[in-house]
Amino acid sequence: MEFTIKSGSPEKQRTACVVVGIFESRKLSLSAERIDRVSKGYISDIVRHGDMEGYLGSTLMLYNVPNILADRVLLVGLGRERDFKDMEFRQAIKSAVKLLNETGAYEAVFFLTEEKVRRRELGWCIEHAVIAAGEVVYSFNHLKTENSDVRRPLRKITFSVPMRSDLPVAEVMMARGIATAEGIEFARDIANNPANLCTPEYLTEMARMLESMYKEISVTILNRAEIEAEKMGAFLAVAKGSEVEPYFIVLRYTPAGVQKTSPTVLVGKGITFDSGGISLKPAADMDHMKFDMSGAAAVLGVFRAIADLKPSIDLVGLIPACENMPSGRATKPGDVVTSLSGKTIEILNTDAEGRLILADALTYAERFSPEAVVDIATLTGAMVVALGHEAAGAFGNNDTLVRSLVNAGEESADRAWSFPMWSEYGEGLKSHFADMANIGSGGRAAGSIVAAQFLSKFAGKYNWAHLDIAGVAYKEGKEKGATGRPVSLLVTWLLNREDRENEAMG
Ligand code: BES
Ligand code: MN
Ligand code: ZN
Repeated sequence: MEFTIKSGSPEKQRTACVVVGIFESRKLSLSAERIDRVSKGYISDIVRHGDMEGYLGSTLMLYNVPNILADRVLLVGLGRERDFKDMEFRQAIKSAVKLLNETGAYEAVFFLTEEKVRRRELGWCIEHAVIAAGEVVYSFNHLKTENSDVRRPLRKITFSVPMRSDLPVAEVMMARGIATAEGIEFARDIANNPANLCTPEYLTEMARMLESMYKEISVTILNRAEIEAEKMGAFLAVAKGSEVEPYFIVLRYTPAGVQKTSPTVLVGKGITFDSGGISLKPAADMDHMKFDMSGAAAVLGVFRAIADLKPSIDLVGLIPACENMPSGRATKPGDVVTSLSGKTIEILNTDAEGRLILADALTYAERFSPEAVVDIATLTGAMVVALGHEAAGAFGNNDTLVRSLVNAGEESADRAWSFPMWSEYGEGLKSHFADMANIGSGGRAAGSIVAAQFLSKFAGKYNWAHLDIAGVAYKEGKEKGATGRPVSLLVTWLLNREDRENEAMG
């Protein structure tokens, strides 16, 4: 998909389609009004007949609108004007793009930013219109041999901005949107690939691909022997039951002119399939566990977006990658292992494997003297119970850090919500036989916080936050598949950090 920006009037666009908004109930947006005037009441007539009420996400395609140069005019419902906020803006864009993608229009010019600009800056609108459009046109069809290439004529989307003086900012933010959208798409492709294709080795190939694409990215990969030499006993305990080789992937992004000092570290859970191990999961929906490397996919997606945008930041990515499988060699409930930190862990449930591989990755992060470490993981089913599919859970040992992530989530419409980390939640992690157990004694109570408490024991030496993305990383049902979340949140957060650092340096 190609994106461009221009400034002009809706009636004068020589294009396949112009897109204008209608508010509920039946209130024309500025651009719709303009088309209405030029077409001598054509739009208001239609609206008066009740064919377009302006409900959020509704659409109506019009052909041969009098005195309009475009072949088509697409009316898109924006909902109530006073409720037209970030999520509504995204929804309107998505509905319009979805419909366009099913018509013969090869390009379209959108006039949807002007009403939104009153609440948000124009740049935000452009950035997020690009991201939302990218989400809709995404498809994952390469594993189908039949009907896999439906002809999609829509090639180009242009966003109209109110004034010529808006163009420079809009261009910059469009570039940000495009880079983020590509990072999201990259993450979605990786996560959607099934576990027989998306193996730990495949994740190393994706990291190597980024390394060859961008001179700012370098990659180091530890194989099993090297992971053993490092003494990552918790990670190895998870990898043990599988026939595929585990890898520990280290990515580093350093743009020209940036000193390698104290980087920001992103850690992504890379379980390419989570069967539960000997604590085997039930059969129903077990296929979802191919998405258990979504944290790793998000880290790879963020690296791609960041390497495109080249902000002056120092960034490290860590991905422990393996399968969690049952076998004669697999870890058994009750086994005690020694983690990289030296702390011993009694593995009471082999299905609580994410925290084990992350524990060693978090200890590994210490060697970078990081300014902040953020791990991203499909860590607990309890997360879905707590927040559903709307927001990721945010946890950590530093309130400022956690708040900055929640704010970036709000800003990017890729939400996260923070949870308490009172130490009482971690008390059930005591073990009779080791320094700690990998599950709490409290059963299902506050499972996501207990998991975060476990992680916190390995993150004591730096500012740390944890995003539990079990509810947001993928969708079920009709739109089943990876979402690429929280790439957008993290890219926004990292770019905000760059701004903050520049300010600090004066
Ligand atoms: N990968 C799962 C968490 C998960 C569940 C993600 C559902 C997405 C959807 C994780 O490894 C896991 O199995 N967690 C257990 C922890 C329990 C054994 C303490 C869980 O949530 O049931
Ligand atoms: Mn598990
Ligand atoms: Zn898991």
